[in-house]
Amino acid sequence: PKGADFIVVANRLPVDLERLPDGTQKWKHSPGGLVSALAPFLRNHTGAWVGWPGVPDIDVDEFTDEGMRLHPIALSSTEVRDYYEGFSNATLWPLYHDVVEPPVFDRGWWDAYVKVNHRFADACAQVAAPGATVWVQDYQLQLVPAVLREQRPDLRIGFFLHIPFPPVELFMQLPWRAEIIRGLLGADLVGFHRPGGAQNFLWLARRLTGLEPSRGSVGVRTRPGVVHVGDRPVRVGAFPISIDSDSLDATARRKDVVEHTRRVRADLGNPKKIILGVDRLDYTKGIDLRLNALHELLHEGRVDPAEVAMVQLATPSRERVEHYQRMRGDIERMVGRINGEFATVGRPVVHYLHQSVQRDELVAFFAAADVMLVTPLRDGMNLVCKEYVACRYDLGGALVLSEFAGAAAELTSAFLVNPHDLDGVKNAMQDALTLDPAEGRRRMRALRRQVLTHNVDRWARSFLEALGSEQTELVNQ
Ligand code: G6P
Repeated sequence: PKGADFIVVANRLPVDLERLPDGTQKWKHSPGGLVSALAPFLRNHTGAWVGWPGVPDIDVDEFTDEGMRLHPIALSSTEVRDYYEGFSNATLWPLYHDVVEPPVFDRGWWDAYVKVNHRFADACAQVAAPGATVWVQDYQLQLVPAVLREQRPDLRIGFFLHIPFPPVELFMQLPWRAEIIRGLLGADLVGFHRPGGAQNFLWLARRLTGLEPSRGSVGVRTRPGVVHVGDRPVRVGAFPISIDSDSLDATARRKDVVEHTRRVRADLGNPKKIILGVDRLDYTKGIDLRLNALHELLHEGRVDPAEVAMVQLATPSRERVEHYQRMRGDIERMVGRINGEFATVGRPVVHYLHQSVQRDELVAFFAAADVMLVTPLRDGMNLVCKEYVACRYDLGGALVLSEFAGAAAELTSAFLVNPHDLDGVKNAMQDALTLDPAEGRRRMRALRRQVLTHNVDRWARSFLEALGSEQTELVNQ
């Protein structure tokens, strides 16, 4: 096939290969914010997507799915262990999320990260037409921009980080900090969710590439928003991501989904209030602390177990990484404890599903939830809270949102909480449960104004416009 002029490079393809017990395999949509954000955009454009199909040791040729040309990258099981579970998700993930769990620094994992990043860059260099635009995604692929530029200086390369970029003091712990910064500096545009991330990056770019000339200094000088690598400007900016708001709004209004919403309430025993949590099962999401908060509220008699049902949907994630296994155990014990103390037969207080849920069903849960709890300790953006808002065309519901989610900067009419402050979380939950309907509508209207006007298409267009233009000033402090 001829070269593509627009290429997304991400660790995952938008579809995962699933191996069924009978030995056959099928494709299903892959989890996570990145794919739900980019897939609708890509479907409307012609281009290619380079990524891993989600299982080790498979070799699949390029194919087309829903109009997207997909180019699979094969990873061996050792590479999945060292590059994906190891360096990406047990080093970078906790380091970039405020060391909520201690990051592990392992030289073998780093070697695998370097090697796999080269493989992605090589594939991309082959797929790209002359002068093509390449958009590299997220923390798993931070070396790709520089490796790719070396092979293909004709390309226009953008990089976007979907998770937080950490404070300088934390980033400096990384033994391979200069290599990562130099990898990112291969791009023409480096994007973050928040201006603070962009500032941290600019500071590090100057400090690290200037400080270590023996490893091939690139002579970096900075001004806000731009780093010069020799003569080449690298622009740096904040681009808060969003969702396909209109399509969720439309789904929530569909007759069958409205009926499904009614069924969700009925299945839960038509409680007075439904509380909802929806997350990948990840220790950054603060699932344990919202369960703690509920537990204390029940204990103190501030919440009546006969009137409330909480649903926690937890999508399985990174199940072979130790941190995740530990956290799953903690959460499941907690759920058991709350139900043990406060349920009656046939009527649990917490309904916990460790499963992925289909989109329509998820929308029905959003539409049924009186209180949505989004309480991460740190989150780049968090799309779940935006999805909830997009589904509430009825102006019902209340959102309790952590200040440490990127989305808090936009969703200021939510009940904003510091997730480390248990009393604060409990108070916000109680306020949301007893919210006056008129006040609730006022808040939801304000939230919807933001989410419906700032959709994922606008995000992608603003990034790509900035990537295409030469002199825009991007950091708006
Ligand atoms: C977050 C990351 C994505 C990642 C997703 C799912 O949203 O920013 O890059 O794809 O989580 O995680 P997984 O490890 O399953 O790809």
